Amino acid sequence: MGSVIYLDHAATSWPKPPEVVEAMKRAMEVAGANPGRGSHRMALNASRVLYNTRRALAQLFNVNNPNDIVLTGNTTEALNLAIKGFLREGDHVIATMVEHNSARRPLEYLKRTIGIKVDYVPVTMNGQVDLKEVEGLFNHQTRLVVCNHSSNLLGSILPIKNIGELAASHGAILLVDAAQSAGMLSIDVEEMKIGMLAFPGHKGLLGPQGTGGLYISPDIDVEPLMHGGTGSQSEAIDQPSVRPDRYEAGTPNVVGYAGLDAGVRKVLEWTPEYIYRHEWELTQRMMEGLASVRGMKMLGPELGEPRTGIVSFVVENRDASELAFKLDREYGIAVRAGFHCTPLAHMSAGTENTGAVRASVGIWTSKEDVDIMVEALAKIQA
Ligand SMILES: Cc1ncc(COP(=O)(O)O)c(C=O)c1O
Repeated sequence: MGSVIYLDHAATSWPKPPEVVEAMKRAMEVAGANPGRGSHRMALNASRVLYNTRRALAQLFNVNNPNDIVLTGNTTEALNLAIKGFLREGDHVIATMVEHNSARRPLEYLKRTIGIKVDYVPVTMNGQVDLKEVEGLFNHQTRLVVCNHSSNLLGSILPIKNIGELAASHGAILLVDAAQSAGMLSIDVEEMKIGMLAFPGHKGLLGPQGTGGLYISPDIDVEPLMHGGTGSQSEAIDQPSVRPDRYEAGTPNVVGYAGLDAGVRKVLEWTPEYIYRHEWELTQRMMEGLASVRGMKMLGPELGEPRTGIVSFVVENRDASELAFKLDREYGIAVRAGFHCTPLAHMSAGTENTGAVRASVGIWTSKEDVDIMVEALAKIQA
């Protein structure tokens, strides 16, 4: 592939740190067996890979017991496990207008099939919620609050700690979708009163695709999504009750999790605070540059306000997909156009009919990359 300016980190980060690639190669060589299913060395090595990954994640999110972290294939699987495993007929859920379809669709599915009720808290055009409005939606049936930590369209950052406190004071559980925040914002499940945390391995945690996870507080009972072999209690007809086996049936992606472990260790070394700062400075530079492009309208928080590494925009009389196509084919710049699996956020931003172009930066993105993108758009609009 020719050289590319990769500005699609909100979908999947790329490239990965060399340590991630090396860890995956090594796992192929020395841990290529089934964890938990044998006592031979390769099987034990594979078990160790999974445990080390859980331990690194537990350190990052301040989780007491690494076995409360379930390893999944992505955020979507984690959200499905949390939502379908926790909710029961008659439950009421509070979610927000910046939820991704990965949270919204399982909620809507349960609405249709078992009659849960869901209220979506409105957000401002910039992607912020009013805590008073959140508070006003609680009732006696409210068991779960689902909240996206950072909008994958707007980059806005939601006040998770305050929402965690509200949920706790009403006896409800907070489920956080950390797809756009894990690795970029500091997350402490205890301090933020997070009952369940769904996260990807392949975005800010710098691991490979096909990895993610769900933290489930030890106080919460969640039914498994999958039943099957775990290598433990094989004589029992029921899924083992012990974590993480209860939620991890079948052969896992050991090689992927070895990469995720290495990715999380890089994040711990750099720190989410440093990564956030780096990405924020790039978004500010991008916004300053884009402000002088003809017909440009940027979405999300104003210049100078907190935001994750996402800048979405629409250009007057330009089709978003056509713009993204031009950036790719004529300038070698990878961005993402369309509706970003979040129609509710587009409705809030007023772009439900046009979609938008989203440029998203990562740890490897440089100021030059940002300047090249701004210049390309300026030329296209000249
Ligand atoms: C906010 C949000 N939630 C969920 C997802 C789904 O993540 P995954 O692709 O890891 O399933 C994404 C992906 O972009 C996202 O941005």
